[in-house]
Amino acid sequence: MTTTPQLSSSSQQAMLKAEALLQKMTLSEKLGQLNQVSGQYGGISADLRQAIQSGNVSSVINEVDTPTINELQRIAVEESRLGIPLLIGRDVIHGFTTVFPIPLGQAATWCEQTIEAGARIAAIEAASRGVNWTFAPMIDITRDPRWGRIAESLGEDPYLCSRLGGAMIKGFQTESLNERTAIAACAKHFAGYGYCESGRDYSFANISENELRNTVLPPFKMAADLGVATFMPSFSDLNGVPASGNHWLMQQVLRDEWQYQGFVVSDWGSIRDLTVHGLSEDDKHAALLAFNAGIDMEMVSDCYAKHLPELLSENKVDESKIEQMVRRILQLKYALGLFENAQTNSEEFVALANHEHLLAAKDAATKSCVLLKNADNILPLDSSQLASIAVIGPLADDKYEQLGTWIFDGDEQHSVTCLSAIKALAGADTKITFEKGLDTTRSQSEEHFSKVINAAQDSDIAIMVMGEESILSGEAHSRTNIDLPGAQVQLIEQVVATGTPVILVIMAGRPLTIANVNDKVSALLYAWHPGSMGGEAVADLLFGRAVPSGKLPVTFPRVVGQVPIYYSQKSSGRPATNETFVHQNNIPVRATQTSLGMTANHLDVHFSPLYPFGFGLSYATFDYSEIRLSEHRLTMESSITASVTISNRSEVDSQEIVQLYIRDLVASTTRPIKELKGFKRLPIKAYSSIDVDFEINAELLGFYGPNNTFITEPGRFNVWIAPHSDTTNYQVFELVSEALNN
Ligand code: NOJ
Repeated sequence: MTTTPQLSSSSQQAMLKAEALLQKMTLSEKLGQLNQVSGQYGGISADLRQAIQSGNVSSVINEVDTPTINELQRIAVEESRLGIPLLIGRDVIHGFTTVFPIPLGQAATWCEQTIEAGARIAAIEAASRGVNWTFAPMIDITRDPRWGRIAESLGEDPYLCSRLGGAMIKGFQTESLNERTAIAACAKHFAGYGYCESGRDYSFANISENELRNTVLPPFKMAADLGVATFMPSFSDLNGVPASGNHWLMQQVLRDEWQYQGFVVSDWGSIRDLTVHGLSEDDKHAALLAFNAGIDMEMVSDCYAKHLPELLSENKVDESKIEQMVRRILQLKYALGLFENAQTNSEEFVALANHEHLLAAKDAATKSCVLLKNADNILPLDSSQLASIAVIGPLADDKYEQLGTWIFDGDEQHSVTCLSAIKALAGADTKITFEKGLDTTRSQSEEHFSKVINAAQDSDIAIMVMGEESILSGEAHSRTNIDLPGAQVQLIEQVVATGTPVILVIMAGRPLTIANVNDKVSALLYAWHPGSMGGEAVADLLFGRAVPSGKLPVTFPRVVGQVPIYYSQKSSGRPATNETFVHQNNIPVRATQTSLGMTANHLDVHFSPLYPFGFGLSYATFDYSEIRLSEHRLTMESSITASVTISNRSEVDSQEIVQLYIRDLVASTTRPIKELKGFKRLPIKAYSSIDVDFEINAELLGFYGPNNTFITEPGRFNVWIAPHSDTTNYQVFELVSEALNN
């Protein structure tokens, strides 16, 4: 579907002003607006000063020292001929000084308000330093936990990612970019980066157009419709054409179909990389391809700066197209109010990492933790009943590692670790013994194990805070083995062997393969990298001051060989079933080839995940009623309501994330066996019930069909309203093309 985003009156103003300025610009000044250069971390070299004075710099990335930013802006405004201010870009990914959970953790909140609030705070803090543009949100669909950048994503599902990514954009940009604390956002990485082969960063993605349209592009379409200020193409190769030189993607889809009005910035050096990909001969050719494909501004490399003048004189590029690119960039500068005032007075802003910001980070971390296991309701812990607690693990008291990847401006001084928060919450008489056990999560040495074992033996309970350090995920940090690294599994096994119950808290940038410890521990809380206030959030949850409510935004495999594994698979002609699954150990020697049921199973591991998408426990117990449908038929114009009653059968007030899934049973291209189509995070008081409704209309049932256009086909659908994706209780309804005669 194509909709034309409406321009607000302030953006219309920005367009008029940009147009007037454009008329005054020389060719060289126009070309200068296409360049983003790297900051110098608190300095301004003579070359940089001169380049700004000459109007050759449009934007600076990675400068966060406010006096330096103000001086850069002053040079641009007072010493360049036309006084055009600078865009100051920075990766503000999950907080600024106050660090929120990694985006994948934020996605586990399934809470738009929480995510919007986090982005708002990140924007306020970044703007207070002079940053006016972030390269976030990352809305790549990610189904491969080997890929290090899964940490920066909002998970595997296009619907969840679209809603949460939209919330992030709103938080950064607010209602109006002209607001002093607003910063421009950037939808990245367009498109297919999350599908890189074998989870290796920067590699290639082969994705059919149908899959792209139905799964990968929807969050980007949402971002364009919402008016995200900028887009960034992916580093990766999409179906043989690297995204940074992909005309189909940036021109046909983004501009022609979606009518996107903002501008496209390359990724760091990604235009130059086109030659390494083998798409271009050299930098000049790369500049031509990127230009034709639709990149408006080049990040850091200088293919445009060096070669566009020559390409113009050879009539290979068109000046009117350059003007269109400049127009878009100037419009953003006007929309941000930079022409009125490009200076930042940090004192006009609230303090960085203030109490309120840290409380918001704690709220996000609390909602993001997912309780995966709670045998015999061992959690929450009753501090009055515990004489002694052993706190164990390399991540239990590490202010830095809990922050996660991509936190250039995060300040670990504000971090509260699990150890300090547990000490604060445990009873005054409770003895707490801390043993790190391993120097880092990667350590192989067992030299400290005996001290850990003694501590565990002497304690009523062991809380182990394990996982992976932040450097093991993020850009260019992919892994083939996603087990707990180092000797952590051995350490967990030895602590479990003491007989002291083990509560395992995992901090990680991805779903790790934890089947090897899952059955051994008594409880398992997945905390992702939870950010500044992660320790307080975890301790509150363990001691029942807060109730776990996060749910998985991504499927947890049993073993890495199952990857990619996601809930919304297609059926296949011979779907895996419990009945036909035979483990290889049970296959008779020289059994005939056809003896195994011939379905889509692996021989060595059951086809189901360890934990399904959408899963997460609470201290409350919820019962879902049968699904009720207002009608069993709807037309292309009408809608029906699907509802359930959810009862909290416990004495605990909690929140439940209720999920709506639909399956289109027969369609002209095959459809997933289940697709998320709605969710609500709702409070449900102890011993009370609520009715939850979802409206279903034809648009919700549409998809990109055989011609890759959005269509809605009549037919039968299954509908589930469920606590997670792996439930069986559904209803059936029918979409009919003709009007209903009542
Ligand atoms: C490379 C990353 O791919 C991108 O996400 C980031 O915004 C830029 N570098 C700038 O740091």
